[in-house]
Amino acid sequence: MAPMKITLFLLLFLATFTYAKTKLGHHKEIEMTIYYHDYAGGPNATTIEIPRPSTGHLNYTRFGAMLCADDPITEGIEKDSVPIARGQVIYIISALDGSYAQILMSVVFINGKYKGSTIEIQGSYDQSLVTVPEAAVVGGTGKFRLAFGYATFEIVSYDSVTGYSLTRSNMTILHY
Ligand SMILES: *[C@@H]1O[C@H](CO)[C@@H](O)[C@H](O)[C@H]1NC(C)=O
Ligand SMILES: *[C@@H]1O[C@H](CO)[C@@H](O)[C@H](O)[C@H]1NC(C)=O
Ligand SMILES: *[C@@H]1O[C@H](CO)[C@@H](O)[C@H](O)[C@H]1NC(C)=O
Repeated sequence: MAPMKITLFLLLFLATFTYAKTKLGHHKEIEMTIYYHDYAGGPNATTIEIPRPSTGHLNYTRFGAMLCADDPITEGIEKDSVPIARGQVIYIISALDGSYAQILMSVVFINGKYKGSTIEIQGSYDQSLVTVPEAAVVGGTGKFRLAFGYATFEIVSYDSVTGYSLTRSNMTILHY
């Protein structure tokens, strides 16, 4: 890195750090009462039982379908890059029309400087592909204690024959 870039990076780092510090001192507290209207059956059911896992074709738009993943995560885009983490995900299609999924995801670092730490991601995942899906970084462990931020997910390539897809995730994270 050129010295100019290093300075800029340091400035940005300090700015982010200061911003985080200042912001943390001014957390707002709100109280809210909300009601969940749940129909556990009938023609307009809003909750259904999670079906038994299948090894057949996966259906990502069937309401209530639950998928579990344990994907290798790499820093390089190549298929044979050395994994730095596993992406362990519970993925449940949570919109009646199949357009959204609820994701609970841990990025479990297994190599490199973050080995042993995790990043926890959670949220409603927009599958419509109209916008880039985004989910919240809601916490972490190890080097990512008290983390918060957000992650985007972009499908870079998909092979319908083998079922292989490559997804790029950019994460912006503040942590101590
Ligand atoms: C289901 O939803 C439809 C459309 O909103 C409504 O007409 C119907 O009365 C509902 N049925 C039940 C049993 O609630
Ligand atoms: C997935 O499930 C939905 C809802 O049951 C259905 O409409 C759709 O045809 C299914 N898609 C495939 C590829 O099986
Ligand atoms: C993610 O990062 C890559 C590389 O910096 C960039 O090309 C891409 O536009 C970013 N995607 C989003 C959704 O910000």
